[in-house]
Amino acid sequence: MQFHVAGNWERAEQHYLEVLLDDYRSADVLPLLAGVVAARGQIDRAIYYWDALLSIEPHHLNALAAKGGLLHRTGRLAEALSCFEIATGLAPHNALIRNNLAVALADSGRKDEAIIEFGHVLRLQPDNVNAYHQLRRLSSAIVPFWHIPMMNDTRRNDCFERAIRRALAIRGSSAQILDIGTGSGLLSMMAAREGATSIVTCEAVPAIARVAQEIVAENGYGEQITVIGRSSTGLSVGEDIPRKADILISEILSSDLLAEDVLSTFEDARRRLIAEDAIVIPKAATAMGCLVASETLAAYSNVKMASGFDVSRFNSLAPLRLPIHGTMTEWSRLSNDFEIASLDLTSAGHEPELRAVSIPVIASGTAVGVVQWMHVDLIDDVVFTNHPDDYHDGGWLQVLHVLPSPMPVEPGSVVDFLLGHDRSTLIVLPASFASQPIKNQAYGEREDGAHGT
Ligand SMILES: C[S@@+](CC[C@H](N)C(=O)[O-])C[C@H]1O[C@@H](n2cnc3c(N)ncnc32)[C@H](O)[C@@H]1O
Repeated sequence: MQFHVAGNWERAEQHYLEVLLDDYRSADVLPLLAGVVAARGQIDRAIYYWDALLSIEPHHLNALAAKGGLLHRTGRLAEALSCFEIATGLAPHNALIRNNLAVALADSGRKDEAIIEFGHVLRLQPDNVNAYHQLRRLSSAIVPFWHIPMMNDTRRNDCFERAIRRALAIRGSSAQILDIGTGSGLLSMMAAREGATSIVTCEAVPAIARVAQEIVAENGYGEQITVIGRSSTGLSVGEDIPRKADILISEILSSDLLAEDVLSTFEDARRRLIAEDAIVIPKAATAMGCLVASETLAAYSNVKMASGFDVSRFNSLAPLRLPIHGTMTEWSRLSNDFEIASLDLTSAGHEPELRAVSIPVIASGTAVGVVQWMHVDLIDDVVFTNHPDDYHDGGWLQVLHVLPSPMPVEPGSVVDFLLGHDRSTLIVLPASFASQPIKNQAYGEREDGAHGT
């Protein structure tokens, strides 16, 4: 031990080994030996000695924690996790071990479990700044930033509330409601406030579902609303929801309508979770857009020279689309509004679609892309739109669909586009990029019948 204290690890190790050979106080010597060997950088041998100790004392907390730490350091995350899990089971009030478990969970990509674990650490050590920071870091990696501006979007909220009120007036307060995508629980609470007594809502992100559960209870609607922390595709009638829903409410429309997988989700709900004649809110959604010129947006979507070098080849990696706040970013319109894609959310299936449309140019400029917004039909005549002309403070961003390269245009000409969707993204592409001829169609004479992509 004197060699150990003096930092002469080699000699210390030799002597510890001799003591071990004498079978003298092995349980005391093995941790010292493992520590010395680890200090010499021999991680696998250190783990070997911790294992030797664990074979004598399987519940040795320090051995489990230290072995877990070494395994974690050398990237053997699954084994590290199992050490920390056993140690946490043995000492549930040990904040350090729980913290190690939380870090290993986070590093293994098991973010939600890490959030729960860091929560335990904070309950044990409310001043633990690191655990608090990690909790916030992980939560914001899981929960998209737009949740809060979305909840603050009064226009959106009011439209949904009017639609929900209308649906309940038709189906009565005993109607079974399914709300897919709980978020904060807002839409379900609107239904409950309107008198609905049987509401099931599901949220795919468990961390969000846990908070929603608390919000619903705090607002006094815990009886009427059941929050399930699972994707709608994992729900079943009879188990999670007492019977097929009479009213489906769901706001899972991304800025470009499709990115939150709205089509598969609604199709699955129609097939399994809602009655044949269920009211579906929203019933339809349309992506609208106009061709734009903008120096600001050009600088975000296209590059030529940088510090005297030609880097224009990087444009092949330019983003397909950029979220923009259509009223805060400077741009000017080069066309009237046109429809990009329209979705009937009550229909049983949706094919990808692509159609050729000629867009008349109304002003001179260099087109950089199409600014897109949405038009959502909730029920009857209740309609929401984030048209950039008069949507100034809402949470739904508009989207710039970037042209592969800027295109000078003149009024009186047309730009031929291919417009549609592949079920999960909108397609907005100049027709010159088409690999095969597609029947042309002047804008305003939209043809039924979709083209595959
Ligand atoms: C745009 S937010 C809307 C939240 C809330 N309904 C509102 O309007 O304030 C959509 C939420 O739905 C969740 N979500 C998306 N698809 C889902 C699905 N198929 N099942 C359950 N939750 C889903 C997302 O995680 C997100 O929290």
